[in-house]
Amino acid sequence: MDHLVTLDDLSAAEILAILDRADGQPADLSGSVVCTAFFEPSTRTRLSFETAAHRQGADVIGFSEAGSTSSAKGETLEDTTRVLAGYADVLVIRHPDEGAAKRAAAVSDIPVVNAGDGAGEHPTQTLIDLYTIRHATGGIAGRKVAVIGDLRYGRTVHSLVPALQKMGAEVMQVPAPGLDLPRGSANGIPIVSLDEAAATADVLYVTRVQKERFDDGAAYQAAKGALIVDAALLAGAKSKAIVLHPLPRVDEIATDVDALPAAKYFDQAKNGVPVRMAVLAMLLENRP
Ligand code: NCD
Repeated sequence: MDHLVTLDDLSAAEILAILDRADGQPADLSGSVVCTAFFEPSTRTRLSFETAAHRQGADVIGFSEAGSTSSAKGETLEDTTRVLAGYADVLVIRHPDEGAAKRAAAVSDIPVVNAGDGAGEHPTQTLIDLYTIRHATGGIAGRKVAVIGDLRYGRTVHSLVPALQKMGAEVMQVPAPGLDLPRGSANGIPIVSLDEAAATADVLYVTRVQKERFDDGAAYQAAKGALIVDAALLAGAKSKAIVLHPLPRVDEIATDVDALPAAKYFDQAKNGVPVRMAVLAMLLENRP
């Protein structure tokens, strides 16, 4: 694996190798430097990457506020990337612009990991999602997965849907009003009601309406609060169904779900550490 910018960078076999590795022994990454360059807010992604680095003996540099960097002076993403690539051994980047990680990878001579590019993709979140599905349900192939909420702007879903298809899962979609999957990625994925998803899915993957991606306040208002997963809805679910969410949650999963055995979203967040340990190990172990 060279860069990890999009799910297309990974075959099914490579995905399985990362998930297996996440269950294995930590690597010794001492002497390596991981750079986390976050131009957009983050809690889980940045801190779990940093924990994953520390737990394997790597050092961490980076920033979580673009305003504190030279991009505030007008430096281009390409120039910032070239400079950071001279300091670190791997660059984990989050940016508000779709395509930013690909642009960074094009000029970087160290591996670039896309930690979220606007409404684009978020491939390491997908690895965490798959790892959690595998652990909670015993496998991925054949599972029925409903993706729910902001499927238009939600980058986690844009990586998850092709990954599920690669791994042989069955996908259905429950878009919030006006927020369907982008054309292309929606090919052949049936749209179902929230009730139908709750009754038939093994995994309910709930997402937040991505307020920061809307130019139009009215469209956001129309979508927000339209789909709520609560304990009453889950009363009609399969007995072993699970509920996932990349987090942060706003109101799309009611807090009365938290105490149910189906609620796996905080386990999912915790799984960010072993999965990102595996990603860093695979990118750094064979460095020159
Ligand atoms: C997601 C993101 O940043 O895309 N968060 C995460 O990394 N777990 C989801 C979101 O912000 O809604």
